[in-house]
Amino acid sequence: MENVTVLNHPLIQHKISILRDKNTGTNEFRALVEEIAMLMGYEALRDLPLQDVKVETPIETCMTPMIAGKKLAVVPILRAGLGMVNGILALVPSAKVGHIGLYRDEVTHEPHEYYCKLPDPIELRTIVVTDPMLATGGSAVAAVNFIKEHGGKKIKFMSIIAAPEGLERLRKAHPDIQIYVGHVDRCLNENAYICPGLGDAGDRIFGTK
Ligand code: PRP
Ligand code: URA
Repeated sequence: MENVTVLNHPLIQHKISILRDKNTGTNEFRALVEEIAMLMGYEALRDLPLQDVKVETPIETCMTPMIAGKKLAVVPILRAGLGMVNGILALVPSAKVGHIGLYRDEVTHEPHEYYCKLPDPIELRTIVVTDPMLATGGSAVAAVNFIKEHGGKKIKFMSIIAAPEGLERLRKAHPDIQIYVGHVDRCLNENAYICPGLGDAGDRIFGTK
């Protein structure tokens, strides 16, 4: 699966284990999601293009590399994807932020769109889509469809925990995007929740329910 990278760094694995614990409270959960996103982003952005620019050091003038091209776009899938945004912005403070609002129907598990706004010109940007959970893959596929319909080309999808079913569905629907996950869990249950997973990511980040 050449377009899928499992970012199994020990620090990421350790932090995911704390996320899974049902006794981890909202405050800590939120901080961990942000930290994991930053660690994942460090790896996922290692192919950002560079260009040499002229800089005067206190000693002499030199040509030295800086990130090239249009600013990165971070596009969280609402709500839970919002929890990962600051982790990426810590690495790339000048990134633009879009939003895709999707919620899963509790019965059909199909995604429903309620809000979408992307930074212009989206076609010239590297786009990092964030969502902590890749379950059936319905939301991820719909989000990437939307971004492509609006001209997005270089898309990276970042999820903290993925179910094998969702990973396969996203990979098949969008073989041209790069997918980064922190861990691939066992399966989905009858309610399309990831097992063992961490429960409802949105509720745990925002302290709802
Ligand atoms: C969760 C999660 C993903 C989606 C994953 O969002 O944050 O967006 O479910 O499931 P899927 O792969 O089966 O589509 P949810 O719909 O619960 O909305 P929320 O983030 O607003 O809580
Ligand atoms: N969404 C979540 O937040 N958790 C799951 O396990 C599946 C979908």
